[in-house]
Amino acid sequence: MPFATLSGIKLHYLDSGRGTPPVVLLHAFPVNAGMWDEQIAALAGRWRVVAPDLPGFGQSQPSPEGEASIDGWADVVAELLGSLGLGPVVVGGLSMGGYVAFSLLRRHPHLVAALVLADTRAGADTPEVLQRRTDQQQKVAEGKVADVLEAMVGTLLSEQTRAERPDVVERARALMASTPPGTIVAALEAMKHRTDATGELGRIRLPVLVLVGEHDGPAPPSVAREMAEAVPNGRLEVLPGAGHLSNLEAPEAFNRALESFLSGL
Ligand code: MLT
Repeated sequence: MPFATLSGIKLHYLDSGRGTPPVVLLHAFPVNAGMWDEQIAALAGRWRVVAPDLPGFGQSQPSPEGEASIDGWADVVAELLGSLGLGPVVVGGLSMGGYVAFSLLRRHPHLVAALVLADTRAGADTPEVLQRRTDQQQKVAEGKVADVLEAMVGTLLSEQTRAERPDVVERARALMASTPPGTIVAALEAMKHRTDATGELGRIRLPVLVLVGEHDGPAPPSVAREMAEAVPNGRLEVLPGAGHLSNLEAPEAFNRALESFLSGL
C-alpha cells in the first residue's frame, strides 16, 4: 500500500497497472480513492492508474489545521506526480476531484495531457450552496455528522440507484463513513473558496471528456453540456440512470466512455 510524504503530509495512493499515458483519478467529497476500484480494475490492463486519497481522506493525513484548500491539494497531487516521475498525465476528477483537476491544470499545466471532468462544474459556489455548506459545517460541529452524511446519500445517488441498488448505496455509505468530521468541515471550507474556472474553459487546448450521470442533481447534465461546449476539444457523455456518483452507479458505461477516450488519445 503506497504512501508518500509530500509537503509534510503522509499521503496514501493507489497505483496499479502500466502503460501510457498514465491516468490520475481524483475522488469526490466526502469519499476517497476507494471509489475508483471499478475504474482501476478496468483500466489497469492497459494504463498505469494512480489514485490518491486527498489530504484528510481515506488513509492520508490531513492538511495542517486551517490550511486545507483545493489549490493546496492540487499542489500535493503535483508533488506526488513529481515523486513518481509521472507527467504529463490524463487527469480525471469527479465533482470535488474535478475542482482539484481545474486547479492542477491552472497551477501545473505541464503535468496535464488530457482531462476527464465527471459530475463537476467549473463555476464557483452560488450563495445558496455557500449557505448549505455553512449549515453542514454547523451540523457537523454539533455532532450530527451521521445526519449530514445520510442527507448526502439522498442527493449524491439517483432515485433509481437508491431504489434498485442497495449494494451501491451501502458502498457509498461506507466510503462516506470513513471520512473524519474534521475533514468534512475542512473540505467544505476549501470548496467554498475555490477559484471559478469558467473563464478558463475556452483556453483549454487539451482533449477533454465530460461525463455526467443522467440524474446528477448537484452538477446536472445542463451544466456538463455547457462545460463541454465551452471547451474547444470537449466531448460529452451522459450516463443513463446514474446520479452524481456516476462511476459507482454506472461503472460499465463510465468505464466504456473512459476507455474509448483514452484509446483515442
Ligand atoms: C462531490 O461529490 O465531490 C461534492 O458534491 C462536491 C461539492 O459539494 O461541490
